[in-house]
Amino acid sequence: MNRSRFIQQAIGLGPQWQARSGWFEQHPAELERKAWQLAQQQASQSAATAAEIPPAITAVTEADAQLAAPLLVTSPAAMASTPELISVAAPVTAIAEQPAAAPLPLVELSWEQLEQAVANCQNCQLCQTRSQTVFGRGNPQARWMLIGEAPGEQEDRQGQPFVGKAGQLLDNMLAAAGLDRENDVYIANVLKCRPPGNRNPAPAEILACSNYLQQQIRHVQPTLILALGRFAVQTLLQTEQSIGKLRGQLHHYQGIPLIATYHPAYLLRNLPDKAKAWQDMVLAKQHFNRLSKAASLHTTQPQP
Ligand code: URA
Repeated sequence: MNRSRFIQQAIGLGPQWQARSGWFEQHPAELERKAWQLAQQQASQSAATAAEIPPAITAVTEADAQLAAPLLVTSPAAMASTPELISVAAPVTAIAEQPAAAPLPLVELSWEQLEQAVANCQNCQLCQTRSQTVFGRGNPQARWMLIGEAPGEQEDRQGQPFVGKAGQLLDNMLAAAGLDRENDVYIANVLKCRPPGNRNPAPAEILACSNYLQQQIRHVQPTLILALGRFAVQTLLQTEQSIGKLRGQLHHYQGIPLIATYHPAYLLRNLPDKAKAWQDMVLAKQHFNRLSKAASLHTTQPQP
């Protein structure tokens, strides 16, 4: 027994619980995170060797990036109406001077500040045509996070994601999987504003909104992300591969397990693929259960 434990016992503090050596290192979540980190390192080493630019960055044209980069800061008008943001926002020049494709400095906001920043956002042209922004829906403490593409007509009207036809299908799939849409999941989109006529999001719009989604994920810290459709999947995984190639296996977004699946709106037009989407949901549940079980086993305090 070492000296400090001897003294603690001598003064009546009794045997002290201590983490078993290797406990944290062997935790499944930590092992998963390490494996992901290693894969990231290997990927970036081979990318550097080949002097390649990641596809998701090359997809953004220089014109797109120039349009988005200076706009990524909360605009002066938005900051004036939310004075508390002034102290947390990075100086305009600091962001504007970044090379367009470099990772943007992340100004950490509280959940409330983030909601307010999104509500006031003028980072791209979509602010001119939206009725309102659509931040997210559900339980911000949920263990599941679902990420879609962008608000549609109904969402733009109601200020909530997935309330139209695609939303009804999504709700049915969640219910069939035993998930309550208000309590068990948090749902957000890549874009917080509706693209006019429900056109595809432009790369510059995705870039302009990416900081918001990144911060939402950091706040929710889900056990598992279900990425719905091409834009969510490709944005989060920084790839141009198709859903067909990416579904059916576990991916990670910054260490968080991620399952890729079809967008509910696509499923409404391609009914045969509903079976595949259901397989993806089953796979997601299997991984979720495995991760939750492993985490609960390892959070049970060992008996002295
Ligand atoms: N499609 C999406 O991706 N998100 C919504 O909120 C609605 C439809």
